[in-house]
Amino acid sequence: MSDQDHLHAISGLITALQAETTTDAETLRIKYLGKNGLFKEVSSLIKHVSSEGKKAFGQELNRVKQQLESKLTELSNQSKQQQSIDLSLPGERQKMGHIHPISQAIEEISQIFEKIGFNRVRYPEVDYDYYVFEALNMPKNHPARDEWETFFVDTEAHPKMGKVVLTTHTSNGQVREMERLHSKPPIRMINVARTYRRQSDATHTQMFHQFEGLVVDKGITIQNLKGTLDYFAEHFYGPGTKSRIRPFHFKFTEPSFEVDFSCHICGGTGKNCRFCKSGWHEVGGAGMVHPNVLKAGGIDPEIYTGFAFGWGVERTYTLKKGLNIDDIRLFYSGNLEFLEQF
Ligand code: DAH
Repeated sequence: MSDQDHLHAISGLITALQAETTTDAETLRIKYLGKNGLFKEVSSLIKHVSSEGKKAFGQELNRVKQQLESKLTELSNQSKQQQSIDLSLPGERQKMGHIHPISQAIEEISQIFEKIGFNRVRYPEVDYDYYVFEALNMPKNHPARDEWETFFVDTEAHPKMGKVVLTTHTSNGQVREMERLHSKPPIRMINVARTYRRQSDATHTQMFHQFEGLVVDKGITIQNLKGTLDYFAEHFYGPGTKSRIRPFHFKFTEPSFEVDFSCHICGGTGKNCRFCKSGWHEVGGAGMVHPNVLKAGGIDPEIYTGFAFGWGVERTYTLKKGLNIDDIRLFYSGNLEFLEQF
């Protein structure tokens, strides 16, 4: 082979690359410029080139190598671009979280009460025996305390306030609110918080939420309580929902009631209704604030009266139209299939 043929062999690489049918830049790079590639093969022809032809051979090698490289780089850029702008690919939807259903319920409940002048407050969820029981007319060792299956915190008791407990109900906010306002009514409080009891079944979790209403002023009567309940029923459960109060007993109210709302499925008739059986659903307690509780908050029961109520958020919420949740533990299960429905 003459020197001329050798030069042809080198430039032939460019023609060969242009004739390739595959556009996979990486495969071509290996084939042409790889360790055992075609360029290496052609370079080795140098041993057959005459001494005068060596310079021209070297220059041609450089020129062709540069061309091969730029062609391959161009190919690989093209394929990258194609990958990133393939408009026919389906879009990727971003995963978005949302507010937990119980937080949504708390927000809705708070807004309903705020509209009629209640003031949303927060009080400790780990509190002294004094605020949870004693100030609520439940002296030490009183059997009424047994109703609340209490978690005690293993820490030193306060000399006056007593042991530390996980709040069993939001009623601990009552005397705290009276103190915050320096025993000066009017008081219109809505206290929403976590509460804790030693219990766990389909309708009870160890941690749950309650909301507590407290109104204290001159001339407050049961009618004000009943009006507030009806207002809540209409706004939370929908027009036409009614409230009902039945005599009950709590140490911190006198008289005391249990509060029911009419069933949205049968409209309160109870006829053949498997959801309520009686036309009504019980949600929690209420009553006129006991004089001893007012006194504990430094308020004169001869001048002021008040009403209070306290219900579970989970229970109140699951009675909403269309929810039909028969196991409230689901709310805290971390089961996304359930939670994503809200
Ligand atoms: N604290 C009570 C409970 O957890 C509920 C309750 C009843 C709250 C009557 C009140 C009330 O404010 O007046 O069972």
